[in-house]
Amino acid sequence: MTATIINGNAISASIREGIRDKVARLEQAGKRPPGLAIILVGEDPASQVYVRGKRRDCAEVGFKLDAYNPESDISQDQLLKMISDLNDDSTIDGILVQLPLPKHIDNLAIIEAIHPNKDVDGFHPYNVGRLVLRHPGLRPCTPMGVMQLIEHTGLAIRGMDATVIGVSNHVGRPMALELLLAGCTVAAAHKFTSNTQKHVENADIVVSAVGIPGLIKGEWIKPGAIVIDIGITRDEKGKLHGDVIFDTAVKRAGWITPVPGGVGPMTRVSMLQNTFYALEKFHS
Ligand code: GUN
Repeated sequence: MTATIINGNAISASIREGIRDKVARLEQAGKRPPGLAIILVGEDPASQVYVRGKRRDCAEVGFKLDAYNPESDISQDQLLKMISDLNDDSTIDGILVQLPLPKHIDNLAIIEAIHPNKDVDGFHPYNVGRLVLRHPGLRPCTPMGVMQLIEHTGLAIRGMDATVIGVSNHVGRPMALELLLAGCTVAAAHKFTSNTQKHVENADIVVSAVGIPGLIKGEWIKPGAIVIDIGITRDEKGKLHGDVIFDTAVKRAGWITPVPGGVGPMTRVSMLQNTFYALEKFHS
């Protein structure tokens, strides 16, 4: 058996095409396009790459993009003032502060300063709380992208056993909440889990979000399972690796995402979808 590859590049491209059409229809109706503000503090090379990608995406779908790049020694108060001004800007639907931030800045204070209706990352405690309470609003982008990949399999996942490996605030935890909301029985494995293999072997859906290449062995995968690899690690030669040993997992899984070209493009497109949602729901 060889798994069907879930192609995040193709799925995200077709979602972007749909967004571009909707933006064109707004403009035909004389309305403004969605507006996104991105704040990148300092010169972190990985963050610059992410932001460049987001800039390209916005250009492709016709969003207005305001990009800010304050110096890495900006004070927390100055950053809070920038966010407050963007909260008050009626042409801006989404505010994204690229993480990580310099050490002297309190991440949570920054996330909490973004108005929840403009929190297109879905990181604000209000939006996380809505997901906990089964009334999601703006949803964390990576888990939202994963759910769209799973929908593409066409499988009814209610009642399935799902195992999420990795419980970070922005990825693993909300991922477990999304799967719970979809009716799965969810196990969340983390660094204190005594037998991760057992939980993976039991799972109809495996989602790994750790960032340790080769952590999940192909032999652990239940035949026919959906395998979603969020992990992405660059080796010394610049090659990207997921958490799952793909070559063996692909022989057992029913569906599997590649790295790269699986979850990454879906995270980006989910942020565009959130921005459009924020415009329609809160700012039109
Ligand atoms: N840094 C890496 N990924 C992300 C993301 O999705 N959102 C933000 N704000 N920062 C990031």
